[in-house]
Amino acid sequence: MSSADAKKQAAAQAALQHLPKGGILGVGTGSTVNFLIELLPELQLEAAVASSKATEERLKKLGIEVIDLNQVGSLDAYVDGADEIDCNMHMIKGGGAALTREKIVASVAEKFVCIVDDSKWVEQLGRAFPVPVEVIPMARSAVARKIVALGGDPAYREGVITDNGNVILDVHNFNILSATELEQKLNNIAGVVTNGIFAQRPADVAIVATSNGIDIRTAV
Ligand code: 5RP
Repeated sequence: MSSADAKKQAAAQAALQHLPKGGILGVGTGSTVNFLIELLPELQLEAAVASSKATEERLKKLGIEVIDLNQVGSLDAYVDGADEIDCNMHMIKGGGAALTREKIVASVAEKFVCIVDDSKWVEQLGRAFPVPVEVIPMARSAVARKIVALGGDPAYREGVITDNGNVILDVHNFNILSATELEQKLNNIAGVVTNGIFAQRPADVAIVATSNGIDIRTAV
């Protein structure tokens, strides 16, 4: 196993102590969460709400019941990885193109537990990782022009269609001084379904795997 994978697995293992036993858990998407999914039988969940078709498939393979979000009013917790996270617990997500369902499921959770290796911890969001934006296909060019006007440099993610039938623009070179403000501005563009800045609903706790062990971080 690579050292990056070993850290992801360590973060997943540590997350178990921060997640409620039993009940219904919201489950994110990505390689870090995939390590956690393998451990979920330990939590003896009543059911899970999945943030993507890929996660749903993995949960079902382990015999975990997956229910529709419409069947629940709220969730005790949501657990997910991130592409970047900062000291405000603001994140960039969507590297796996699951941002919309991730944001929806996170929005109804009492607690957002983010599991990452320390390569994801950044001083300023968006310098190394572009901001993914899910867009209605017919609006792709129109949205791209508006994003350029906001100072971003959008690139069409070739060959990717989201679980919702939409496309992704990866926006480079944003100077993100206020993640909350940029999240709102992007959401206001007609044709944008969701953007990958998770600041309005930040994580509550980050479980960060480092070479020296696990760090539990909350907003400063
Ligand atoms: C998927 C996501 C993932 O949480 C993010 O891409 C991190 O993935 P990984 O754990 O594979 O690094 O937002 O849309």
